[in-house]
Amino acid sequence: MSRTVYVNGEYLPEEEAKVSIFDRGFLMSDAVYEVTSVLGGKLIDFAGHAARLARSLGELDMASPCSDEELLAIHRELVTRNGITDGMIYLQVTRGNPGDRDFAFPPASVKPTLVLFTQSKPGMADSPMAKVGMKVISIEDIRWGRRDIKTVQLLYPSMGKMMAKKAGADDAWLVEDGYVTEGTSNNAYIVKGNKVITRDLSDDILHGITRAAVLRFAREAQMEVEERAFTIDEAKAADEAFITSASTFVMPVVEMDGTAIGTGKPGPVAARLREIYLDEMRKAAI
Ligand code: PDD
Repeated sequence: MSRTVYVNGEYLPEEEAKVSIFDRGFLMSDAVYEVTSVLGGKLIDFAGHAARLARSLGELDMASPCSDEELLAIHRELVTRNGITDGMIYLQVTRGNPGDRDFAFPPASVKPTLVLFTQSKPGMADSPMAKVGMKVISIEDIRWGRRDIKTVQLLYPSMGKMMAKKAGADDAWLVEDGYVTEGTSNNAYIVKGNKVITRDLSDDILHGITRAAVLRFAREAQMEVEERAFTIDEAKAADEAFITSASTFVMPVVEMDGTAIGTGKPGPVAARLREIYLDEMRKAAI
């Protein structure tokens, strides 16, 4: 069945939704995005995603297409119209369609393009991967230097996923100057004893909305949290490893470049954080 999607003020069947070939999102990757998960028909951490969207837009001097209240209403309308129980809502804002190709930003009279669509994933929180864990490879991080802005420049992350696939793994962790930055589309963590270690926030990584919540829950559960860079060798020697993102929540990593991490099975810290995260976020969902 065809989805109902949202484009610039209109709810349309997906076949009828169109964006200009001159749109700067298409020509220049001049666009930012958010992915918000839906569990039980409700939005997980909408406020966090709306706040990061506002920050991404601000960093790029891009106009906001509408208020947070309007954005929330659009998210909810799409959930209802598409009967989404579990899944994701993808949102993209571009600098709009100036009617031609030009490197210079268009004048403020050019309105941003706003597109949203749903992805239904029934039983998303019960992913079998959470029971067996993921295999990860390490690759060089050659992305641009403002990874804190959630832009749609996703070619290298896509290539990284393909490199992982080719190597028989599920994802890649990106390494810069010898230290792990993050996964292709998630934040990366290792566990040593009672300590959860993840890279500190900077322009080098996306400031994950799931990361913020998981670190809060870890501290509340009396785990020690260390926000610092770590190496692939440290990851291989860790007791556990995991990733976080809006689409995977907390997902254990059990193998790095062919080496088993810890027991080679999902560990108790990742399992506990996944459980707490899902419980608490379901309670707070709107
Ligand atoms: N990706 N780091 C990168 C590079 C990401 O692309 C993402 C999210 C994250 C985790 O952020 P959050 O917890 O806010 O989802 C970290 C989304 C899910 C995606 O591109 O589909």
